[in-house]
This record gives sequence, structure tokens and C-alpha cells, in this order.
Amino acid sequence: DKGNHRHFMVKEIHEQPEVVGHTLAHYLDLANGIAKVPSGIDFAAIDRLSITACGTAYYAGFVAKYWFERLARLPVDIDIASEFRYREQPLSRNGLSIVISQSGETADTLASLRYAKGEGQKIAAVVNVQESTIAREADIRLPTLAGAEIGVASTKAFTAQLSVLAATAVAAGKARGVLSAEDEGKLVRALSEVPRLMHQVLKLDEQIEALARELAKVKHCLYLGRGTSYPIALEGALKLKEISYIHAEGYAAGELKHGPIALIDEDMPVVVIAPYDRVFEKTVSNMQEVAARGGRIILITDRKGQEAAAIDTLATIILPEMPAIVTPLVYAIPVQLLAYHTAVFMGTDVDQPRNLAKSVTVE
Ligand code: M6R
Repeated sequence: DKGNHRHFMVKEIHEQPEVVGHTLAHYLDLANGIAKVPSGIDFAAIDRLSITACGTAYYAGFVAKYWFERLARLPVDIDIASEFRYREQPLSRNGLSIVISQSGETADTLASLRYAKGEGQKIAAVVNVQESTIAREADIRLPTLAGAEIGVASTKAFTAQLSVLAATAVAAGKARGVLSAEDEGKLVRALSEVPRLMHQVLKLDEQIEALARELAKVKHCLYLGRGTSYPIALEGALKLKEISYIHAEGYAAGELKHGPIALIDEDMPVVVIAPYDRVFEKTVSNMQEVAARGGRIILITDRKGQEAAAIDTLATIILPEMPAIVTPLVYAIPVQLLAYHTAVFMGTDVDQPRNLAKSVTVE
């Protein structure tokens, strides 16, 4: 049931504050400022994580790599499942494999799980459908409590995956002695603010819709980000191409001058995802390079970022200021809305885009 919404996708976008709140409440002890360690995982004994998934779930894993490395000093290998399953990568004996899947039936992700299991790895699955094959075959189940996701373009499952992974990375940081109880408390409090921040960002819907009218006219679009905003750029580009069929690519902002800058002209807008964080200034120099070549910038940032960037943009979407750990969750929303409204303007079948299946059970 779509309720008052025109498509399942937009309904699911709007469900995110609730779904994320619900999922976080499962993994965090909010009253005591503690991230719960999932039972069956001894983070102090693990020396390497390998994360495997496809599509949007892979991008959730990519964000998690930054979190686990930074907060828990745990090295993370991140792989696309279709590559991982055949690569015969040597896995650490004290490693943990995490697979991520909304449906729990993705053929390549399941094959990766089986490969890792065969190599003696313990498997944790971040999964939304609890009766799925991946959920059944994993040693440790880390449910996302997103409810059924109908739109082929994943939205609420993505932020629910990020919620599980963020909470688990904080728990790992504490268990490994990297984070103090005080650090942990701060991060848990920051995460608990996500639903409220998401509500605020959903109010930008009209501004984003107006911008989508412009985006619907272009043939190509670039997304840039650094740090955890890099996987969000990848996810933004995937969302746009999946449902609007506009060619979009996500790049690490620092890679711009290693090739993609050759594409920049006034016909190729550049969406820059840049909260005012420790790498913000670096991204500003990339935006200047774009602007100097006549590129039109859509900047997604906060008030501080807007002031510090001091750059002419086609549009600037201003989000509230927030701690770094929560930016991937909250900045996912404007890129989802931008793709959604663009697709609606293009008149595509938003919930059932051409050539795509909700669950990819063949390789
Ligand atoms: O069910 P899964 O999470 O394993 O699916 C993985 C991908 O097929 C999925 O995320 C796909 O990329 C979506 N269409 C993205 O919107």
C-alpha cells in the first residue's frame, strides 16, 4: 500500500526516520550510551574484516570500511560479491566476513558467503529479509529492521544497513580499546539524533524537486565526494541512473584531475556531497577546478560548508550541521530525493525501472 504517496520509492524514502530509529534502537542502549556488541562476535580477537555485497548494499559496506578502520582500527577489505566469489582471496584465520543484502537472496552475495565459510571464516549477515537463504546460512545475523522494501531502487534498506554497521563499528571500537566509554557515549548520542535530522532534511523536498526539473534536462551527471561521502556519491549516481536512465558516475573528489575532469562542461552538472568535515577544504579545491571549466555545481553541504566554499553553484542544498559519523545516513536522503524527482519528471517507471529486478537471484 502506497498510502498517500505516488510511488513506493518515495514512501520508503519518507519512512527512513522511523526505520532508522527502530533499527538503531535494536543495536544501541540509548539510555546508557552503549553500542551493543552482537553476540557471537569477539572484536578484540579479530584482525581483519572482509565485507562483500552488490549494488547499494556494497556502498553501505564501503561506508562501513571507513567507520571500522577509523573507529576500531580494524583493517577492512571491501569487495563486490561477483568479484569476491571467484578471486580466491586469502582470508585471515582470525578474520570475520560480513555480507550485506536486503533480499538475502542475491546469487553472488550468497556464493561469497559460501566461499568465505569454506575458507573457515565466521560469517555475519546484515540482512533485511529474515527468512532468506543468506540469513539462514550466516553464523551471526544482524537484521535491518526496514520492513518490506518494494521499490526496486533501494532506499530505506540502505540507511538501515548503515545504521547496523555504524552501531557495530562503534561497538567494535569500544571492544578493541580504541574508543573510551566517553567517545562511545558521544557517538551513540550522535546516532540517536539521526531520525530527527532525517525529518529536517525531508523538508527540503520542494527545493530538491525544483532542482530535479533542471537535472531532468541533462544527459550526464557526475557525483563527487571524499571520505564517507565518496560511497554516498557512488550511491547517488547509481540511484540516478537506475530510475531516470541519465548517465551518472560517482568519483572520489580527489580522482577528478586523474581523468573525469576532461568531461566537465556546462552540460554536465556535478553534484558535490560535502558536509563541513575534516576533508572539506580539499573538496573545495575540486569544486574550484569544476567551476573554472564552466561546470555547474549542485552542492550538498551545511551552513558552514556553504560559507567556507564561497563558490557559485547552480544550487546549494543546505543540511543541518551534524557529527561526522552520521553524515552518510543523512546525506543519503537528498541524493535519493534528487534521483526520485528527476525520474518523475522524466516519466519513467520509478518503482519498476526497465531491465531491473528487485532481487538478483542469477549471476
Ligand atoms: O538484495 P540485495 O541487497 O542483495 O541487492 C543488492 C543489489 O542488487 C541492490 O542493492 C541494487 O543495486 C538496487 N537496485 C540498488 O538500488
